[in-house]
Amino acid sequence: MTHPALAGAPVYLDYNATTPVDPEALEAALPYLTAHFGNPSSGHAYARAPRAALDHARRQVAELLGAEPAEVIFTGGGSEADALAVRGAALAVRAGDPGRRRVVTPATEHPAVLRSCDGLRAEGFIVTPLPVDGHGRVDPGDLRAAVREGDTALVSVAYGNSETGTIQPIAELAAVARQSGALFHTDAAQAVVKVAVDVAALGVDLLTVVGHKMYAPKGVGALYVRAGTPLRPVIPGGGQERGLRAGTENVAFAAALGQAAETARRELPGSAVRLAALRDLLQAELEARLPGRVRLNGHPDERLPAR
Ligand SMILES: Cc1ncc(COP(=O)(O)O)c(C=O)c1O
Repeated sequence: MTHPALAGAPVYLDYNATTPVDPEALEAALPYLTAHFGNPSSGHAYARAPRAALDHARRQVAELLGAEPAEVIFTGGGSEADALAVRGAALAVRAGDPGRRRVVTPATEHPAVLRSCDGLRAEGFIVTPLPVDGHGRVDPGDLRAAVREGDTALVSVAYGNSETGTIQPIAELAAVARQSGALFHTDAAQAVVKVAVDVAALGVDLLTVVGHKMYAPKGVGALYVRAGTPLRPVIPGGGQERGLRAGTENVAFAAALGQAAETARRELPGSAVRLAALRDLLQAELEARLPGRVRLNGHPDERLPAR
């Protein structure tokens, strides 16, 4: 018998491209588009509620990641968070140590990372591509070889691939980067809410979070920046977000992202188990209906969502 999830109305399957906005996240945003419209940087009473909402949202995102609130920088989405991480960290490291001018990343990264690396290449950096195996996995031994000159500023490897779902051995890779004196960034856009992500356990310096992959709106994201990590802003201007991301904060969408993070924290790990079961059901149904014509692209076990 057909599983109820596979019967009836069309089923949206492209959650890696984007998710709908969760009603709780929408509700969290609305007051900051209406009554509490003030600029959080203003020096008068209208700033109070938006400022408190930003602080609350920052705490919510930090709690999901096991970080401190001061380590969360709100951005205008995932591409911007990746650009801030890759460009901002590489330039800051090289400014402090001109010998560190290598960036290491696999060719399977999201264009937001790859194109940021292209920009660095044009500014004198060496961009070293990391090989991946047939499942799209990076071997920590290959990273060890890539960083052995001790001239690497930054290593960037996504937690989970946006097309195949293949999960990388992030804790191992981050340890290799750290031993070489390089910073480590992971784009966790696809992993957050599909798996529990803890920045301390992973040992990463920078981690990208994307609102519209986790039931918050498009156009909002966050970058985790471990305390003490050298970073240069990529958008010059006012001193918002500790001087690392200029621009009047999108309080409403930050509030939505915060709520989405809180909801994810409440629902994990059960939500991951449920998602993995649905994924396995889809695969089994496809294999049963199209025998010999279904090929899994990605790692058979180390893939999102993980139980
Ligand atoms: C892994 C990954 N990184 C970054 C992004 C970019 O995020 P945004 O669309 O918010 O710029 C996406 C979304 O497509 C993604 O899947």
